[in-house]
Amino acid sequence: MKTLDLSLSVFSSRIIQSTREDVILKASETRGLWICDENTRNLLPLPEESILALKPGEEQKTWDNVDRILSRCVEMELDRDSVIFGLGGGVVCDMAAFAASIYKRGCGLTLVPTTLLCMVDAGIGGKTGIDYGGYKNLVGTFYPASSILIVPQFLGSLPRKELLNGIVETIKHGIIGSPELLTFMEANRDRILSGDSEITEKLIWLSLRVKSSLVEEDLYEKGRRAWLNLGHTFGHALEAHEGIGKISHGEAVAWGLERALTFGTMLGITGTGVRERILHLLSSYGCLPRFGVDAEDLISGMKQDKKKSRGAVRIIIPVREGEVTVRDYSTEELIPLFKKLG
Ligand code: GLY
Repeated sequence: MKTLDLSLSVFSSRIIQSTREDVILKASETRGLWICDENTRNLLPLPEESILALKPGEEQKTWDNVDRILSRCVEMELDRDSVIFGLGGGVVCDMAAFAASIYKRGCGLTLVPTTLLCMVDAGIGGKTGIDYGGYKNLVGTFYPASSILIVPQFLGSLPRKELLNGIVETIKHGIIGSPELLTFMEANRDRILSGDSEITEKLIWLSLRVKSSLVEEDLYEKGRRAWLNLGHTFGHALEAHEGIGKISHGEAVAWGLERALTFGTMLGITGTGVRERILHLLSSYGCLPRFGVDAEDLISGMKQDKKKSRGAVRIIIPVREGEVTVRDYSTEELIPLFKKLG
């Protein structure tokens, strides 16, 4: 069995390659509440009384739904040793994890991601939260799940658009820390897009290694974990501009990667040919959307981003495959640069 043990500050977290049958067995052995959505509730034969199924979608990531989870925990008389399970994508897992982090000051938490995005990114590293005041993930905690069960079988029924959300994050992980992952994605595009199980499993673990090493080193994002925000400063500003939930996270991050690469190339920070290689890769997976946002709107979205540091806007810029750099800019510096960026 493939496993990856992470030691995260006072937490420990185990990522476990699993089958659907392993998860069914775990469910039968463990007392807890299963948070899922209407798309994931039938993936496992769970007892009705232990399920809370939310409506799907980013707009469900609210206080009201966290309140519903907590109320069910009270009704079921769960204690600190009980487990809240998240069975779903990033929305379900972030909310399940947030509720687990505050119920009785922290109860058990197991995540069973059902999307590629959640398997390689959202489910790993303990970021929990809800959207608030029109901003994504503005309220939350750091609370890593003690177990994350990776079941590649669940990806078989994933819509293409959902798969692409994860593909963009795996490309991001390649740029940050794994030239091998980029080469693998270039060589295996058709097999990845057709859902070939052996290749998908390899993709997941190559990507997980990049994410897990950064979060293990820096759970609270005081240093190199910020690298994982590559493409996200631009992407979150775009999402704020378009309205939360109006475009997919993958589209926003892919657009953000393109902007970060073009910005870095314009400033001479990104090496020759890197932008072209990554844009070609994004485009070959059908992940290179075009959006027009003017410099002022972009900066206004970025100013609200929670990654802003002491009034400066922090931008992660690719240097070469496997290496990025972090730069802080004042908004006065950025306006002319973004105008030039076009
Ligand atoms: N998704 C970025 C992070 O976990 O830090």
